[in-house]
Amino acid sequence: MRIASKNLLVVAAVTFLAAGSLARAAQVIESAAAHPPRERLLMDFGWRFAFGHATDVAKDFDHATGQFSYFAKTGYGSGASGPDFDDRAWRVLNLPHDWAVEVPFERRGSGSHGFKAVGRNFPETSVGWYRRSFTIPASDLGRRISIEFDGVFRDSIVWINGHYLGTEESGYSSFAYNLTEFLNYGGNNVIAVRVDASLEEGWFYEGAGIYRHVWLVKTAPLHVERHGTFVTSEIKESSADVTACVSVINEGTNASTFDIEQTILDAEGKTLATAQSKQVSLAAGDTGDFTNVIAVANPKLWSIETPQMHKLVTTIKAGVSVVDQYETSFGIRSIRFDPNEGFFLNGKHVKLKGSDNHQDHAGVGAAIPDTLQEFRIAELKKMGCNAYRASHNPPTPELLDACDRLGMVVIDENRLMGTTNFHLNDLKRLMLRDRNHPSIVLWSLGNEEWRIEGTEVGGRVTAAMQAFAKRIDSTRPITVAISGGWGNGSSMAIEVAGFNYIGNGNTGQQHARRPNQPIVGTEECAFNNTRGIYFDDRGKCHLRAYDWDPSQWGSSAEQGWTHYAERPWLAGMFVWTGFDYRGEPTPFGWPAVSSQFGILDTCGFPKDVFYYFKSWWTDEPVLHVFPNWNWPGKEGQEISVWAYSNCEEVELFLNGQSLGRKTLKRNSHIEWPVKYTPGMLLARGYKGGKEILTEKVETTGAPAAIQLMPHRATFKADGEDVSVVTVQVNDAQERLVPTANNTITFEITGPGKIIGVGNGDPSSHEPDRFVERVSAAALTYWRVRAVDGIENRPEVAFDFDDANWPSAAGGRGSRGGSDAAPTQTNVYRGAFELPAATNGVTVSVVLRSLGEQQWVYLNGQAVAQNVARAAGHDFKLDPALLRSGKNVIAVVATPLTGGRGRGQGGQGGAGNTPMAKMVTAPDNWKRSVFNGLAQVIVQSTQQSGEVTLKASSPDLSSNVLRLQSQPTALRPAVQASQP
Ligand code: GAL
Repeated sequence: MRIASKNLLVVAAVTFLAAGSLARAAQVIESAAAHPPRERLLMDFGWRFAFGHATDVAKDFDHATGQFSYFAKTGYGSGASGPDFDDRAWRVLNLPHDWAVEVPFERRGSGSHGFKAVGRNFPETSVGWYRRSFTIPASDLGRRISIEFDGVFRDSIVWINGHYLGTEESGYSSFAYNLTEFLNYGGNNVIAVRVDASLEEGWFYEGAGIYRHVWLVKTAPLHVERHGTFVTSEIKESSADVTACVSVINEGTNASTFDIEQTILDAEGKTLATAQSKQVSLAAGDTGDFTNVIAVANPKLWSIETPQMHKLVTTIKAGVSVVDQYETSFGIRSIRFDPNEGFFLNGKHVKLKGSDNHQDHAGVGAAIPDTLQEFRIAELKKMGCNAYRASHNPPTPELLDACDRLGMVVIDENRLMGTTNFHLNDLKRLMLRDRNHPSIVLWSLGNEEWRIEGTEVGGRVTAAMQAFAKRIDSTRPITVAISGGWGNGSSMAIEVAGFNYIGNGNTGQQHARRPNQPIVGTEECAFNNTRGIYFDDRGKCHLRAYDWDPSQWGSSAEQGWTHYAERPWLAGMFVWTGFDYRGEPTPFGWPAVSSQFGILDTCGFPKDVFYYFKSWWTDEPVLHVFPNWNWPGKEGQEISVWAYSNCEEVELFLNGQSLGRKTLKRNSHIEWPVKYTPGMLLARGYKGGKEILTEKVETTGAPAAIQLMPHRATFKADGEDVSVVTVQVNDAQERLVPTANNTITFEITGPGKIIGVGNGDPSSHEPDRFVERVSAAALTYWRVRAVDGIENRPEVAFDFDDANWPSAAGGRGSRGGSDAAPTQTNVYRGAFELPAATNGVTVSVVLRSLGEQQWVYLNGQAVAQNVARAAGHDFKLDPALLRSGKNVIAVVATPLTGGRGRGQGGQGGAGNTPMAKMVTAPDNWKRSVFNGLAQVIVQSTQQSGEVTLKASSPDLSSNVLRLQSQPTALRPAVQASQP
């Protein structure tokens, strides 16, 4: 049958006609118009979560314990991977989710990962299961449907309706699975994900769980491939030639002829240019690349100062019907790394003033909401940082979006070096996913591969990976971060040398050795200091925030930046790190849990060194004086007072008395030894002999009041947006008390919720999140006996002797079948244990219908009577009826008619056994301020209105903050269909 001129959705219809399903085909054609040709639906809301177990099969929901595993027969996902598993006793949560941030700190934990109870020593909190039910309308039949995970830490296995989809080891690569053939159209579907964070990839905090977005993507069989566009540009005199390449795949069963339309829009949505590929064809199953060069007149270029974005809209048309429409954000800009002059953006020299960062923030860990990504990039930009290295792994896509939007160039980094499919596939996925981001100016193959970087093997691996990468993208140079073996191995093979620390090698020597090789400082500094600390307190793992203490391999901020600033052949440097991050608590071990390398702490509160960089990285006048001036007990002792400034001269006064006017050397600081007397330090900054700035630091009074300051007072009612709230403790004169450590309790009302708290103290063991704890266990001694009536059953009594009753638990290890439906009225009995103290714990019994009608008893007392058959039941148990120790549940059930049906079978492989579910309510949100400051991250719900955040502490006057959550169009999302 020739159908070349018809819309591809009709192709699908024809297939069904041939299969004899007229009604179905009509439905497909009809629905074709009802939905957009491509849908990308956010799948973040309403997941169920529970811990499995890394070594105990029973605690891992008996998954894969049957005679036939999910590898033996398709669809044999069992236990929590099976579609019928009862997950109603699991916690409900939204993604992104990082469970590592929720578990306690443990001395036995991995120091590099911040001593969290995750990893090989913690099998009970290292495997997490996620499940999500959703409906696929019947009208989707004929479309291609896939699920996309932006990143899961780590070693994830995914099933749809019990069918195994794949295993993804990487905790950082994005991945997708085709679902089309396995879906239940017009009904319920279940995605199950088992995540195993036992193994570490990095030597830094990495999080655990589905910590990035998940998407459901629906297209026609003929569609643009995932990450299937590549847009590059060549800038001419007064125009740019934009080369737009699109990969189209025909997953239909017939050849197809179609037109491709490519339209370039500016940031305001105005069409700038279009091009077409007319009447191109693809055989069934084929993929084709189609390229147009599109001229854009007088393009607005993407730059750090004016990050102008463009959009390419690729439309595939079969006849008059739009079959697919795919949007690609891109920027028009040119980049060049010069071995003698450094980096050029759009032909203009730019010194890279960068920072390295891991994906971690106070309160939320690796599960960083999109707004928080933007907040972090904006904070870095405030000090003149113009470059970000995503160390040492593929970042979250929204981080790159934020860099595109705000103007921050990026080194996008691969995780592990090597040349097998395993390694190269990760590199390829990173590049295909990220290649349209104008912010990315370098691909990095990896970081400090100590075993190979200075060897022949390293040279060969680097050369092979580089050649591979060049075939994917020839428009950007390739680098690798090197810490040794200079003159050998990687350093001789790589295009742009990445220097990790001037203490590890000699940049001048490398420049002389390879005069055509550009060099960038991929890591520098690695100083250790704690925000607001000016005298080391090693017991508390707090280190003074003067720029005195680089690590052994690093340099001070001043040494590092001076080195890079003074050498024009060096493209710039990246400070290790922009933000503190959990893990790597160098130079300490327990009880320190976070690094202190940051210019900002884990909340994003600036340390003093922030102002060093701001002085020399921006043109804004800066004058910053430290330390604080609260030193009771140190009267008469000498304290070193520093000023970071880009003024020419600064004069310092203590209580009105001049301590001298000093001249600032470029890229330096000035300091005065000052004998401590309480009062006021006042600095005056001069340029051209004129006073341009003053700065004062005063001895404050005692903590008196709490102040709440949101980074934004309004946010979007989309369930995703956040406001980052600074909590500050002030004295009676509204001055920050720099030594305050009061514990503050938070209450939130209205359409908002707190998702994390932090304070930047690198050794704080206070919780960052307060979440309900849900646990459930199948009833033990689950037994059954047929009876001849419903009323007044003696068998429901607490101590009825059921020793000789047969077991009612079935289904474990069965070959996929569910228990047969009972044909008689039965009494079921089972038990669960309760600890002595159950304050704040809600106990319920969760069961699936055992009969057409059921009567439920707890310890002989009625809980529910004459309840009709339903998909499931969750009966709250009256605390007055609960006993400490053994509790007995009895259910009297009339026969089931028509079989148990789908969804009435096994619960975690343990037949139809009900569960006792215990929900422990979270404590109130609270956090102490650290040196006067803490942070609360408030997230919107999907309701609009006023959110009230109240902060209180016994000795302080409390504060109330009102945030406005404003109605907004929601991103298209998958609706939950939890039974
Ligand atoms: C580097 C390494 C970073 C971090 C840093 C600490 O060697 O690349 O990941 O560990 O040291 O200074």
